[in-house]
Amino acid sequence: MAKTPLIVVFVFMITVTCNLSGTQCRSILTSSLVSSLIAGADINVRPNADPGSPSVNVSVNVMISGVRIQDDNEEVMRLDGYLSMKWHDSRLQWEPAAYDGISQVRIPMDEIWTPDLTVYHSPDSQQKLFSEEHTIGVVYSNGDLLWVPKVTIFTYYNETKTNNGTLYQAKILIGSWVYDANALDYPQETHPTVDHTDYHGQNFIIQNSSITRQSATYPCCEEQYPRLEITLEVLKTKKD
Ligand SMILES: *[C@@H]1O[C@H](CO)[C@@H](O)[C@H](O)[C@H]1NC(C)=O
Ligand SMILES: *[C@@H]1O[C@H](CO)[C@@H](O)[C@H](O)[C@H]1NC(C)=O
Ligand SMILES: *[C@@H]1O[C@H](CO)[C@@H](O)[C@H](O)[C@H]1NC(C)=O
Ligand SMILES: *[C@@H]1O[C@H](CO)[C@@H](O)[C@H](O)[C@H]1NC(C)=O
Repeated sequence: MAKTPLIVVFVFMITVTCNLSGTQCRSILTSSLVSSLIAGADINVRPNADPGSPSVNVSVNVMISGVRIQDDNEEVMRLDGYLSMKWHDSRLQWEPAAYDGISQVRIPMDEIWTPDLTVYHSPDSQQKLFSEEHTIGVVYSNGDLLWVPKVTIFTYYNETKTNNGTLYQAKILIGSWVYDANALDYPQETHPTVDHTDYHGQNFIIQNSSITRQSATYPCCEEQYPRLEITLEVLKTKKD
């Protein structure tokens, strides 16, 4: 609380400077806003960490832009695409009126807390799920976040020969590695989807896909660990 008056004075001073310097106003205000948001939200502490707070709900959607059979002998499939994640962090809120109406900013996601989603049963434990290319996300003044990093997912598959070609089926489990359902969850009322509109593969046709929320317990602990199960059916059509 003791800091608030200082911040107000600071913003007021910048607002005055902005009015004088015209077009640079937005850049100055944006820098000051992004710095204060990052300073106020500890990267190591999740949102709603206080006892009794509701879990952080992460809405996840998957977009697939490429399918490759990586290794026929080991039955490994490679998927390229994006993962869209939305969640809320009340530490990242501000009053747009105090910032010349700025209602959203781009923020480097490696400076704030992000969900530690990972692929369970990945054939390659060294492979990072999130690309290091797109580490910028959008923060809205109400504390909502949107982050859509590129992803590469390796998964095992099985195959069945059909009259139409070879059908590859894969099941991918994605979830937090450390947070149980009391800390992080996937909203059950929303309907996550696998989106293939950006998929332009010729050899493989994505026939069917789904995402469902599941919950698991482990021998270590009594908490429920929620996770998302993604199923995919890919048909490799016969060549004439
Ligand atoms: C997350 O979702 C659960 C169940 O839908 C709800 O009880 C909880 O309040 C939500 N958390 C937040 C922070 O809104
Ligand atoms: C083969 O393709 C036809 C026409 O697209 C479809 O009706 C049928 O269900 C497919 N069969 C299998 C086994 O996928
Ligand atoms: C292949 O994998 C799918 C999805 O994991 C599973 O539903 C199906 O039963 C498996 N089929 C065989 C023949 O193992
Ligand atoms: C698509 O996959 C879902 C989940 O595995 C399954 O319930 C459904 O029957 C499948 N639909 C088709 C057309 O194969």
